[in-house]
Parts: sequence; structure tokens; C-alpha cells
Amino acid sequence: MLRPPLKLAAQTATRPDATADEAELLRLEALYCSHGDTVHYTDPPKIFERCEGSFIYDGAGCEYLDLQMWYSAVNFGYANRRLNDALKRQIDRLPQVANQYLHREKIELAALIARDAEAKFGLKGRVHFNVGGSQAVEDSLKLVRNASNGKSLMFAFEGGYHGRTLGASAITSSYRYRRRYGHFGDRAQFVPFPYHFRGPKGMSKEEYGLHCVRQFERLFESEYNGVWDPKAGQAEYAAFYVEPIQGTGGYVIPPKNFFVELKKVLDRYGILLVVDEIQMGFFRTGKLWAIEHFGVKPDVIVFGKALTNGLNPLSGIWAREALINPTVFPPGSTHSTFNANPLGTAVGLEAMKMMHEEDFATSVPKKGAYFLRGLEELKRRHKIIGDVDGLGLALRAEICAEDGFTPDKAMVDRMVDEALKGDLVHEGRRYGLVLDIGGYYKNVITLAPALTISYAEIDLALALLDQLITRVSRNT
Ligand SMILES: Cc1ncc(COP(=O)(O)O)c(C=O)c1O
Repeated sequence: MLRPPLKLAAQTATRPDATADEAELLRLEALYCSHGDTVHYTDPPKIFERCEGSFIYDGAGCEYLDLQMWYSAVNFGYANRRLNDALKRQIDRLPQVANQYLHREKIELAALIARDAEAKFGLKGRVHFNVGGSQAVEDSLKLVRNASNGKSLMFAFEGGYHGRTLGASAITSSYRYRRRYGHFGDRAQFVPFPYHFRGPKGMSKEEYGLHCVRQFERLFESEYNGVWDPKAGQAEYAAFYVEPIQGTGGYVIPPKNFFVELKKVLDRYGILLVVDEIQMGFFRTGKLWAIEHFGVKPDVIVFGKALTNGLNPLSGIWAREALINPTVFPPGSTHSTFNANPLGTAVGLEAMKMMHEEDFATSVPKKGAYFLRGLEELKRRHKIIGDVDGLGLALRAEICAEDGFTPDKAMVDRMVDEALKGDLVHEGRRYGLVLDIGGYYKNVITLAPALTISYAEIDLALALLDQLITRVSRNT
């Protein structure tokens, strides 16, 4: 796909009153909007007006190349025509229906996802919908607690992120998300993830992956390690929550052997594997589910974000039949008014059809490899890039001090602010960049461009990143 032609800038009406209007909006926002439902990384917050493809535009008509795409909720490009049209068709036909009744799109979407999982993992299963990633995580918690006779303890990874509802934040590693609110559910036991760049020196990526599994396995060696009763043959823990690639944790990619080895331990001790695909699902990494890269069969998959390309907060879970059949997980288990709403399921169904018809499995790895080569070139030229990596179009650039290792959060904050000024120049034209920050030390630029990004747009992204890094490192 080609980026919008140059004439688009001329077509973009620059509203003369944009600045005054924005100032008033920001004044109202400061007075009337809770800041608790946002993250306000930039000061003042940025207001956008319009979006298309890989670009988002502010009121003054400045174009910003978006390299985070609403944290991967918009994998298929802003204002994707096919998906927008599906939404419009559904609005004109059956936009509303209570979810105690059925509609075609819900059934067909569930069948598509379940059949795909059956073909890939050889497991029969069912799909259950909700709205928002955290809510689907909550549903999965109910499901695995139910399947394990009410065990409420979970394992999860250091650096892991599963959302901010009370249940989801209990299995999210950062204490910052829990500190003010106390505990409602049991906090997960957090286990090290094989973050090789910051792991012990002298081990290959695979060796470090294996080392992390062995450390985890040690917990089951004796009943006095706190998780296992050898006499009853039971673990105190119901499930292990994993992100195949850590998202908020900074797009950390584990070694290929990691999950296979981990799963052997989980199977041995009767612990379910719940795979959180909310951020890395829907071809972000070049496969429908990121876990497909790692050769294991999940017990539960949790998904959200890009299923509707950000047009509707539809989310859901797929689970093995034994865990989710109506005898064990009956009607009403997690009912909520907007679950499986027809606008969401109609777009989700179209998105799944599109994913089957268009060859993202080929295009995403190719574009990802091209982008990663460009990032490696930037790393060679800029000392402050300590590490780059990527799987498909989930890419990372870890920003460090000049030693190439000490995390430099302040530098990343400056990069994000500078990028939003909209005054980077390429071939005589002004641009901004939309970037996202992740990582254990908040020093990683996590790059999640549209999967529909063109090679010309990748070149533009690399040129703008080059310019941005030159600018911020010069001003230190
Ligand atoms: C891996 C992962 N799990 C769960 C969530 C929570 O999803 P939501 O923000 O839709 O509640 C996110 C959101 O970023 C995520 O990346």
C-alpha cells in the first residue's frame, strides 16, 4: 500500500481557529476530564482530528506517522475501508440486539476462531466474548478458577501486563497499578521472563530461556518451596498467564525453546497455560496468534484490541472444550450487556475473513525484517540504541546511555515529546511521529506500525527516527 499522495497535505484543511479551539478544549479537559482513564504521557496532551492508513492528523493539518497504532488495536490501518464498510452495513441492518438472543455474526465469528484453533492446535474449543481486554482477562480468571475447583492463585511473568481492572492488575507485574487500591483478588506469583539483553552474561538466548524454566521448575522440587503438595499431587496454582512477546514489558521476545520447555513443567504439575494475545494477536508478529511461533498448545487464549481494528471494544477468550463447555461454564457465568454486541462481531467477522484472504503471514515477516534491518543500521550509527529486535511488525529499540546498556528513560521521554512536535522534515515536508514507550525501565520504543504499512512508509519511519535520535542526543 502506498502512503497517501503528497497532495493530501493540500487537501487537509488547516483550520485557522485550530490553536484557539485546542486551547479551549485543553482548558475544559483540565477541568472536567478524569485523568485516571488515560496515561497523559505528554504535556500538554495531543489532540488529533482525523486518521487514514498509517497517518493521524492534528487540527492544524500536520501529519504524524503512527508507529504504535493505538497499542496495536489498529493493526489493519486507520480507516480501513473494508472494515469500516462492514461496520456501516451492520449499523443499517442489525445494530442492536440483547445478547440473550443470537445473531449470525457472533456465531460465525466464534466458529471461525474455534475452527482455526482446532486446525492449528488439534483442540476443540469455544469462544466467549466481552468488551475490552481486561474484561476478557477477568473472564479467563473465572474460567480457570472454575476449572481448578476455585484455586485463586496464578503465576505470571515479571514485566507482564494483563490490564488494570482489579483482577487483571493482580496478575500484572507492576505494583504501581495496585498501590493505591489494595488487593481484591490474589496477587500472582511473578516469575522471571527470559529477557536476554538484561540477563546474566555468558548465556545464549536459548540457554537463558532454559535457565528461567529450570528456576521455575525448582519451585516444585519440594513441598517447602511453597507451591506443590506432593502427597495430594496438587499445585496451589490454577494457571500461568503469559504474553508470548511481552508488550508493555518492551516487546521482549523469548527464545524459540522457551514455551515448549515451560509447558512441559505446567503439564507435569497440572497448571493451565493462559496465553494473553491481546496485544500480539491478529498478525502483529506475522501469525494470527503469537504463540504459534513457539510450538505449544494453549489451554486458553485471550484476545481483544485488533479484532475489530479499534472500531469496537470487542474482546474474548477461546478455551478448550473441557474448560468452557456449557455444563461447566453455564449461561450467566460472566454475562454483561455489551458482550458480543452486533457491531463488534460484524467487524470482527469481516476482519477474520480479511486475515484469511490477505497474506499477512507472508507480508508481515517481510516488512518486519526490512524494518528491523533499518533499525540495526540506526543502532550502528547511534550509540544510545542499546538493543533492537523484532518479530513480524512488533519491533523494539532500547534506548540507553552511551555505554549502550544503562537504561535512559529521560531520553525516551524526550524522544516522544519531540516526535509529537510535528517539526521533523523529510524531503521538504513536515512530519510528526507517534511513538509508544514500554519496557521494565520505560526506556524502550515499542514499534507497532500498521500491518498495511508500505515500504516507502517504513523508509520514512527510519529517516524520521534517525533525525529524531540525532536531535535528542545532540541536546543532552
Ligand atoms: C497483553 C495485554 N493484556 C491485556 C491488556 C488490557 O487490555 P485493555 O486495555 O483493552 O483492557 C493489554 C492492553 O494493553 C495488553 O497489552
